[in-house]
Amino acid sequence: MREYLAWLKAEAAAEATPPVNPPLSASLPLSVASPSPSSTSPPPQEGSLPAGHQGRAVQGGCAGLVVAVTGGASGIGRGIVLAAAARGCRVVCLDTRQSPLEGGVPAAEEHAAAGSGGEVLFVRGDVTERADVAGAVAMAVRRWGRLDVFINNAALDLTDPPHSLPQQLTSTTLEQWERVHRVNTLGYFLGAQVAVEQFLRQEPRAQTGLRGKLINITSQHGMVACPGNLAYGTSKAAAVYMTKQIAVDYAEQLIACNGVAPGKIVKEAARPVSQYSYDRTPCKRLGTPADVASAVCWLASDEAGSYQTGHNLMVDGGWMAF
Ligand SMILES: NC(=O)c1ccc[n+]([C@@H]2O[C@H](COP(=O)([O-])OP(=O)(O)OC[C@H]3O[C@@H](n4cnc5c(N)ncnc54)[C@H](O)[C@@H]3O)[C@@H](O)[C@H]2O)c1
Repeated sequence: MREYLAWLKAEAAAEATPPVNPPLSASLPLSVASPSPSSTSPPPQEGSLPAGHQGRAVQGGCAGLVVAVTGGASGIGRGIVLAAAARGCRVVCLDTRQSPLEGGVPAAEEHAAAGSGGEVLFVRGDVTERADVAGAVAMAVRRWGRLDVFINNAALDLTDPPHSLPQQLTSTTLEQWERVHRVNTLGYFLGAQVAVEQFLRQEPRAQTGLRGKLINITSQHGMVACPGNLAYGTSKAAAVYMTKQIAVDYAEQLIACNGVAPGKIVKEAARPVSQYSYDRTPCKRLGTPADVASAVCWLASDEAGSYQTGHNLMVDGGWMAF
């Protein structure tokens, strides 16, 4: 009780003297904030903010960034791998398979044939196995010296045969629930944990003042219900929540965490498009992996700066605005 009263007193004192934003200055020293946030810390003094919190405009793309993408062999993940590598990133693609589910050649082969800058390195592994995720990150760090961006993307939704919908509360089997949450929720947790541990071991990048960026591929489901697909929808809600929690918990340690929420994405040109999804999308087209990849690459880039964290960026043709 005495501690609580002391805390209240300190809060009241802090309110009486509100913190002042320090003036912008490019010459502030690159020191690192203490990892112990406290509601009673004194307001920041001029010159005391770490580089990532100086609020200066940052320019630059993503050339040279070291990026890890889970589930990068197929679909949206493959689109991200190819777009990042084409922009000059050095990319580790972690997946249980190398050939794309939708057909076509592996991302590393397609990138090599395109002959653009950047590199793609495939690592076979399962996101539900901590050692596999840690191994992929360690390989990137051994090869390229650090990890700048980690993208949690691998996920299951169990809607293709032999699975059938609806998987509502009373028709979702324990096996379906556990399989989906094992990959989508445990997998994102492990990916985030391994990535943030690596970020905390490395110095901030001079360009942004950030140690690293975590990007979670979420979905509009997780913000609105996913009719007849309870396990998938709740796993995506967990990803949206995790994004905010990690952003808040690690902001002072100069780590940014954001989500990118795709709408309806077409991965195979030959697959029939749902009339409902088409009608429901204001842009009057469904999305492509390249649409999602553009948003991810922008968030990953230095140009996105260091003040954007805890955000879930919709790439849905306006679905969620309608
Ligand atoms: N496709 C869409 O319309 C859509 C819409 C909203 C959100 N999303 C999200 O986008 C992300 C990618 O979706 P997609 O449709 O491209 O998926 P996809 O099924 O086409 O590809 C997923 C990839 O993840 C890999 N993978 C699955 N389990 C894995 C595991 N345990 N370890 C490592 N790799 C594993 C698969 O082998 C595959 O290469 C997911 O997070 C999904 O929830 C997709």
